[in-house]
Amino acid sequence: MPVKKSKTIWMNGKFVKWDDAKIHVLSHVVHYGSSWFEGIRCYDTKKGSAIFQLRPHLQRLYDSTKIYHTEIPYKMNELEKVIIKLIKSNNLKSCYIRPVVYRGYGEMGLNPLNNPVEVAIAVWEWKAYLGEESIKNGINAGISSWQRLAPNTIPTMSKAGGNYLSSQLIKIEALENGFAEGIALDAYGNVSEGSGENIFIVKNGKVYTPSIADAILPGITRSAVIRILKDEGIDVIETTIPREILMIANEVFMTGTAAEITPVCCINHQKIDNGKPGPITKLVQEKFYNIVRNGEDPYGWLTFID
Ligand SMILES: Cc1ncc(COP(=O)(O)O)c(C=O)c1O
Repeated sequence: MPVKKSKTIWMNGKFVKWDDAKIHVLSHVVHYGSSWFEGIRCYDTKKGSAIFQLRPHLQRLYDSTKIYHTEIPYKMNELEKVIIKLIKSNNLKSCYIRPVVYRGYGEMGLNPLNNPVEVAIAVWEWKAYLGEESIKNGINAGISSWQRLAPNTIPTMSKAGGNYLSSQLIKIEALENGFAEGIALDAYGNVSEGSGENIFIVKNGKVYTPSIADAILPGITRSAVIRILKDEGIDVIETTIPREILMIANEVFMTGTAAEITPVCCINHQKIDNGKPGPITKLVQEKFYNIVRNGEDPYGWLTFID
């Protein structure tokens, strides 16, 4: 999806022109994947522009860097203010927000700790990632031949740039096989997640999602969905899930900042139930879109920018 240019990007404490937000080719991040980032959304709700789950996203960014012994040289409330200012000064009502922290130019070698910690935040207009049609009718997904990262290799709780080499292989393979998205298994062959989404499975009225020990990114949308379901009196079980449950599920859906709540109607060419989004998926969509589109926010998940 092409990036729609905005006017300014915030970089290391300054608002710079979009085209001037550049880094040196010998920056550590370019060679060794040493970056950590977030994907956040600002919605044009009926009650005004509002960012969904700003604090939890920023908290995950600080957690992601901490795992790599990296300290962000700004306070969380400073970055919060920058994000709001960026959205306003770029005249955006709804947008995607991309904070990124990376190890910059300095030494060359594997030890990152002597390289500067740089921070940039960009915002730009963005539509549905997998398309409006996908949110309404669901997508075809395929089980990837690429498994997610094994425990004690690369930590999946950190949203690090380098982790997305795995996601890229999953996504490329899915598209080459004619699927909109790939579902990856973990190192033990149990269900993990999509290339950029968490996964939920409905079976006999209960909802299952892989646990944080199943090589997933702990999604912010995932947490929101778990809360919504529990408040509806529906059991959500975070557990290890064998892949064959995907073949006999009543409903499957994926969640993420980009994908929002996307039903999965078919996996490896086999229909999920009747191949249409099911009642629990629709209920979650209704509750979620009531928050981000209508601005009805019983949980305090929205940060209104005015
Ligand atoms: C690998 C991966 N899993 C899950 C998610 C969903 O996370 P969130 O709901 O926080 O966007 C993302 C998106 O950031 C992701 O990249």
